[in-house]
Amino acid sequence: MPSEGREGEGKPVVSMRGIVKVFPGVIANDHIDLDIYPQEVVALLGENGAGKTTLMNILYGLYQPDEGVIEVNGRPVRFRSPRDAIEHGIGMVHQHFTLVDDMTVTENVILGLKKYGLIPNMRKAAEDINKLANDVGFKIPTNAYIWQLSAGEKQKVEILKALFRNISVLILDEPTSVLIPQEVEELFNTIRKLKKKGLGVVFISHKLQEVIEIADRIVVLRKGKVVGRLKVTEANPRFLAKLMVGREVFLQIKKPPTRTGPPYLEVKGLSVMGDKGLLAVKNVSFNIRSGEILGVAAVAGNGQKELAETIYGLRKPLKGRIVIKGKDLTKSSIAERIGRGVALIPEERLRYGCLPRFSIAENLVIEKVDEEPFSHIIPGVTDFLRLRELNSTAMIEYANKVITKYNVYPPNPILPAGKLSGGNLQKVMVARELERGSDIILAVEPTAGLDVAATEHVRKLLINARTEGKAVLLVSSDLSEVLSISDKVMVMYEGEITGVFRPGEIDIEEIGLMMAGAKRMPPEVISRAWVTY
Ligand SMILES: Nc1ncnc2c1ncn2[C@@H]1O[C@H](COP(=O)(O)OP(=O)(O)OP(=O)(O)O)[C@@H](O)[C@H]1O
Ligand SMILES: [Mg+2]
Repeated sequence: MPSEGREGEGKPVVSMRGIVKVFPGVIANDHIDLDIYPQEVVALLGENGAGKTTLMNILYGLYQPDEGVIEVNGRPVRFRSPRDAIEHGIGMVHQHFTLVDDMTVTENVILGLKKYGLIPNMRKAAEDINKLANDVGFKIPTNAYIWQLSAGEKQKVEILKALFRNISVLILDEPTSVLIPQEVEELFNTIRKLKKKGLGVVFISHKLQEVIEIADRIVVLRKGKVVGRLKVTEANPRFLAKLMVGREVFLQIKKPPTRTGPPYLEVKGLSVMGDKGLLAVKNVSFNIRSGEILGVAAVAGNGQKELAETIYGLRKPLKGRIVIKGKDLTKSSIAERIGRGVALIPEERLRYGCLPRFSIAENLVIEKVDEEPFSHIIPGVTDFLRLRELNSTAMIEYANKVITKYNVYPPNPILPAGKLSGGNLQKVMVARELERGSDIILAVEPTAGLDVAATEHVRKLLINARTEGKAVLLVSSDLSEVLSISDKVMVMYEGEITGVFRPGEIDIEEIGLMMAGAKRMPPEVISRAWVTY
């Protein structure tokens, strides 16, 4: 039996042996062994589509394994549903949130529990939740509705929901991809507390530094197989990246010089209301030229997401103007903006980004089904109706090209998009927006959830787009990403622009101070920057 890189004695809480799971055309899990011990964090690493989520979905009772056994505390078990898994002490927080938006935190946490009565005693429930939250160091407004919460807060609710069910193993599937650095630290503190209480934690992440910081043990998967088991003390980012991908990966990126042209996007005095009824964007003015990437450096929740959504037309501004390639489109519909060349890579891609039941091909052409070659007007009597006939061969052909270019796995154009792994779905979303030939690309967290190789790929594509003369707005909580691919950077704090500079002009500490609101550039320096840059 493999030592799993573990020293000493102790019995695992969970022992998975020889787990096999086959989906049409892919072996997602190919004879995987995994032990989970109390009081330790085991990290699962691997490329997009390597089989991490599948393995954990099996442990959580969402899928049945085709082969293999699971033991909990030495006894073989068979989970028919998450309910069974939870009863055996397994809790899971998914890659995509599963909370009900128009219910409160308390309602979500006690959903499905009988212990608060038929008509639940909400006061008692809220009390218990607050107590648990205190215990693990969370501050959460139990009366708030889910839709009012930030991504970081939603995640805390998901974790509370799992812990509330008295678990001994907590599975966290890419918990940090939606978190800002401070929140990641908070989460790690919580994980450390849970570990002390005796929990075993499974931690999935593509961020190698994080894995090295929080894990005790690392298991690496590639194409459904375990390709490495090591103690964290034996690991370093380069070695891990190589194990995952099976080749050397360069964790840095080259950026060719660019020629900037006229402003493609001009934002003037823009103010936008946020979901919580407060101003999210306050009197913001800036421009992005053709041939330029403008990165936004900001802690999540400082208006950057609302800014991108307003430019795309998902939100109405309170005041201000949005000018796209010289034309005022402040009051235009989303369709008009798309027509004018605006594309959005949205943050919550399962919600806004894609149609999970539709195929990869359909998702890729969704905004151009009424164009040649994806459909033709049916000639003859129906001319005046302009009825169109879909050309599925053209759709599939196009999809195959995109799948190859973006390395989508599995390379099957008719697979429903909802069946892709998280990272591969993200590749499809990014591909759709980048391949549309748009001139203004609004990229919100474009590499969240992507493995090291795919991240490198998307960054290159954004850089290529800009070198070809497009304008890119990059919103990313990964400061090193912002600094490495942007041509200029603006810092946002509480909805305002507090600094503008070129990467390298200002050191990281100072940027951090501006992001935290402890420092700001004089307004005249900021407004001059948009003219002189
Ligand atoms: N319900 C399903 N039907 C068909 N194929 C599936 C299904 N769920 C997963 N797969 C396939 O199984 C493989 C493993 O997917 P999985 O989600 O486990 O990957 P992952 O390691 O979690 O990747 P990521 O880092 O992108 O989240 C992928 O090829 C995926 O497309
Ligand atoms: Mg996954």
